[in-house]
Amino acid sequence: MKLTLFAASGRTGAHVLHQALAAGHDVTAVVRNPDAVTAPVRIVRADLAAAETAVLKSAMDGCDAVISALGPRHHGEYGVASRGTRAIVHAMTAAGVRRLVVVSVAGISTIPTPSRPNPPKRDPGVGFFTRTVLSPLAKLRLQKHYEDVALMEHELRVSGLDWTSVQLPLLTDKPATGHYRIAYEQSVRGGFRIARADAAHFVLRAVGMPETVRHSVAVAY
Ligand SMILES: NC(=O)c1ccc[n+]([C@@H]2O[C@H](COP(=O)([O-])OP(=O)(O)OC[C@H]3O[C@@H](n4cnc5c(N)ncnc54)[C@H](OP(=O)(O)O)[C@@H]3O)[C@@H](O)[C@H]2O)c1
Repeated sequence: MKLTLFAASGRTGAHVLHQALAAGHDVTAVVRNPDAVTAPVRIVRADLAAAETAVLKSAMDGCDAVISALGPRHHGEYGVASRGTRAIVHAMTAAGVRRLVVVSVAGISTIPTPSRPNPPKRDPGVGFFTRTVLSPLAKLRLQKHYEDVALMEHELRVSGLDWTSVQLPLLTDKPATGHYRIAYEQSVRGGFRIARADAAHFVLRAVGMPETVRHSVAVAY
């Protein structure tokens, strides 16, 4: 397949890049710092906080699918997930590319967005302890990021594209296992972690899974 990968320099994006190349895919990597990618791939430079549609479109002309592992490196970059994804969607529409798989966050489906002003109050995959203790603690620190990622999923929902959001729990840098569970439109029950390498494995798998189109799919151990 011909793939265009956004944020190939990130910790999850790098796994996606290397696994895609190992599987024989033709990858164009879109990054803001080309020096961060040493793999022998075509590189397009773009800052997704202020990207030009023409530049993004040039990175995806003729590709079969677009993958994004975009996210903020620090607090000051909150907002980049929704803004960058909106730019990716515009460029895909201009380029006539339909398939998009993006990395997202588990548990954000209960956050209201313009396209889901009344989301479900409870995530059926989240147990009592997580709902009452862990999630409120995480929200204290990451609320702005969660709101940005929820807005990113809103951009997907109104895009008209064949999107999938891969919702991730706590990420680790352990080796890939190839064994994980998935859940549609809810968190994986009792699934608190996944290695970035396994998250990348599922992201690539999801590209070829039509049953994941227009769904949020959580992945965890
Ligand atoms: N960390 C967790 O435990 C966790 C849990 C659940 C979900 N997630 C989700 O998974 C995402 C990916 O996680 P990760 O650990 O792989 O993230 P990461 O290593 O911080 O990678 C973020 C990527 O986004 C890129 N990026 C950020 N701002 C950009 C901009 N303005 N223009 C172009 N590229 C930009 C970064 O580029 P540079 O290399 O140039 O900085 C990098 O490639 C997170 O953002 C989060 O939404 C994370």
